Amino acid sequence: MSDAGKTLERGRERVNAALEGWLPAAEQAPERLHRAMRYAVLGSGKRLRPALVYATGDALGAAPEALDPPACAVELIHAYSLVHDDLPAMDDDDLRRGSPTCHRQFDEATAILAGDALQAHAFGLITETAYASAIPEAVRARMAATLAAAAGAEGMAGGQAFDLFACGHRPELAELERMHRYKTGALIQASVLLGAIAAGADDDERARLARYGAAIGLAFQIVDDILDVTADTATLGKTQGADVERNKPTYPALLGLEGARDHAATMRDEALAALDGDDDRFEPLRALARFVVERSW
Ligand code: IPE
Ligand code: IPE
Ligand code: MG
Ligand code: MG
Ligand code: MG
Repeated sequence: MSDAGKTLERGRERVNAALEGWLPAAEQAPERLHRAMRYAVLGSGKRLRPALVYATGDALGAAPEALDPPACAVELIHAYSLVHDDLPAMDDDDLRRGSPTCHRQFDEATAILAGDALQAHAFGLITETAYASAIPEAVRARMAATLAAAAGAEGMAGGQAFDLFACGHRPELAELERMHRYKTGALIQASVLLGAIAAGADDDERARLARYGAAIGLAFQIVDDILDVTADTATLGKTQGADVERNKPTYPALLGLEGARDHAATMRDEALAALDGDDDRFEPLRALARFVVERSW
């Protein structure tokens, strides 16, 4: 297995175990809501965001128990964003992680509520003592603020708004870049920052990790756009060609496939430059930066 494969696998195993225990039980009322929450989260995602929390925290010396709450929280926000992204009012998709989307499996109202509840649960995980006892109070507050900024109107939700309003017109590159940085980059960057905050990183360390996170975050969505054109539905676990079908503004639409690939590679190099030096601690983060650009799903 590649270095990135091992880092992802380790993160996936750890976060899946924590998520399994920290999500409301399927038998607990309201059962339909809880089943929908578990369905949306416990599927076959790459778990890149939790892997970034663990890899960053590990590199800087955080205890693994202090990384579980932020790793789970960021994955819950991500899973909620996917549930809402797939709704008929947004991308109107039927397939996610190789299975019917949450609103197809349950119903639209349940999917909306599952997203709402996942978001609230994410903040509970990083603030409530029942989950975050290994994390000092001040660190919990800082994590909550970081996640809130990345999920809100100047992060994921804002980026989704840009995305919806941009359908059918051809934005300038700067607009497209801002949309991608908001809708996807912010949560990926926050994953790195949460690991750094858990470890008590100083301002300089956090600044270079923020640069790394911003670069891989943008690269990740550029590659998501590329794979929508070049991969197949079975590999992606979501319907191939959905962006062209909906006239979405994307990097391949604006720059062509080669141009989009070059841009993603430039962002990877920017991420690697942010971690300059031969510091072995950051090898897993370097491997993840390469994975983001080379991945086939
Ligand atoms: C898909 O994210 C949506 C984007 C933000 C591009 P991922 O590709 O990380 O989805 P999963 O978690 O692996 O399903
Ligand atoms: C999703 O972007 C970004 C989110 C915030 C969920 P996409 O709409 O391109 O994600 P996919 O391709 O449906 O996973
Ligand atoms: Mg979308
Ligand atoms: Mg979508
Ligand atoms: Mg996409």
